Amino acid sequence: MYKKSDIGLIGLAVMGENLALNMERNGFKVSVYNRPHIGGENPTDRFMNDRGKNKNFEAFTEILEFVASLESPRKIMMMIRAGKPVDMVIEQLLPLLEPGDIVIDGGNSNYEDTERRELELREKGVFFVGTGISGGEEGALNGPSIMPGGAEEAWPHIKPIFQKIAAKAEDGEPCCTWIGKGGAGHFVKMVHNGIEYGDMQLIAEAYGLMKSLYNMSNDKMSEVFTHWNKGKLDSYLVEITAHILNHRTINGTFLLDEILDTAGQKGTGKWSVISSLEFGVPLNLICTAVYERNISALKDLRLEAAAAYIREHRDHKVSEERIQEMHDSLYASKLVSYAQGFQLLTEASAAKGWNLDLAAIARIWRGGCIIRSVFLNRISDAYVNNPLLRHLLLDEYFKSEIINALPAWKNTVAEAAKSTLPAPAFSSALNYFYSLSSERLSANMLQAQRDYFGAHTFERIDKPRGEFFHENWTGIGGDTKSTNYNV
Ligand code: 6PG
Repeated sequence: MYKKSDIGLIGLAVMGENLALNMERNGFKVSVYNRPHIGGENPTDRFMNDRGKNKNFEAFTEILEFVASLESPRKIMMMIRAGKPVDMVIEQLLPLLEPGDIVIDGGNSNYEDTERRELELREKGVFFVGTGISGGEEGALNGPSIMPGGAEEAWPHIKPIFQKIAAKAEDGEPCCTWIGKGGAGHFVKMVHNGIEYGDMQLIAEAYGLMKSLYNMSNDKMSEVFTHWNKGKLDSYLVEITAHILNHRTINGTFLLDEILDTAGQKGTGKWSVISSLEFGVPLNLICTAVYERNISALKDLRLEAAAAYIREHRDHKVSEERIQEMHDSLYASKLVSYAQGFQLLTEASAAKGWNLDLAAIARIWRGGCIIRSVFLNRISDAYVNNPLLRHLLLDEYFKSEIINALPAWKNTVAEAAKSTLPAPAFSSALNYFYSLSSERLSANMLQAQRDYFGAHTFERIDKPRGEFFHENWTGIGGDTKSTNYNV
């Protein structure tokens, strides 16, 4: 007897194709749709003649037939480019859907677009889910980390599929849970990617310093990363770094050494920084990571500046102790980065009423996704122990880790600076830590300056918060204050 499909998937690029294969392998019947290409082979034909052959798929080039092939309530997942294409496909789908049907966007969409789409579709009785999916091609095929949010009514219908196809953490827990309403799922994925930028930049700096400061060979560095991957830094990104370092071309040269030093980006790191500014949460390290990609892209300008400022090279001897220092600096900086990311989640959750379960978010990032690591167990524990934890660095475990790493961390940043080598993320993390743990900062000077030139007023240490004062600093200004409006 003909059985309709459990789910439909739109978009047969690599992520969509792999996700469809993952669903089918896990026992679901999947309808796939891709708009026909003008000229060349149709993506649906290509898929059905190749990786989709003799499997439980139905392929369509007509969206009407595709929608009709789905079991009710229909579950339609879009794996297409974020932005306008998502709105265009929704527009095509809407007239074909019935109340209660579910549309899922699995791309890296901006969470504000997701919030808008959820409201628009809700008006038509259709439930919209914006889900983060992490793990790249391999994850999509064998088990990604999935972060769904939006219309909660959809969750019972998609949960069995999503939790089945998701990666499983070491304890067997699926790396997928309901994140929250509106744009919560895509927001959490955006922060995941921001943290990914931070981790990558820190690893790149550790590599850069080991290479330039200690003159270490790629093979030696590969050994170091392999070793680090067995301890507290055990993570996917450290693991792949070890592989990248000793990967050779067919000529026996290191491919890494032949790759141009200009980094690309698709926008999620930048969005994290923009959001952090909007929510007023300092996200220094991720911001540094984004800017470092920007400065890396200015290759011509860097070449000109490098010729203008010749820097003397200081040779350092590498030792076990120096490598341990690098390890501790990377670990402490990484801790700061995650603390900043989770603080952004905390503040956004409060402002948006998302009620994010931070312990659960840390747990679903333990497997499948790009930032997967053993370290996330500790973050989850911190929030389980104290769900109202204001900041990860206030957790007792992390506090002692930071204190232990501090001597090494200071040394690494100082050595890099003295050797005229950039370590912007390491030093940004250290300075953030110093500012955060300063009882008194120099912002009293900023307030005085603001009041001096613009009558912006200041609060006093001997008066209750919220009382504002103005000083006639020069004797020629008036007593008129500016407003107390603050961004
Ligand atoms: C993931 C990745 C994935 C993608 C990034 C890359 O979680 O699987 O984050 O989403 O690789 O979009 O981002 P950039 O191109 O901006 O580095």
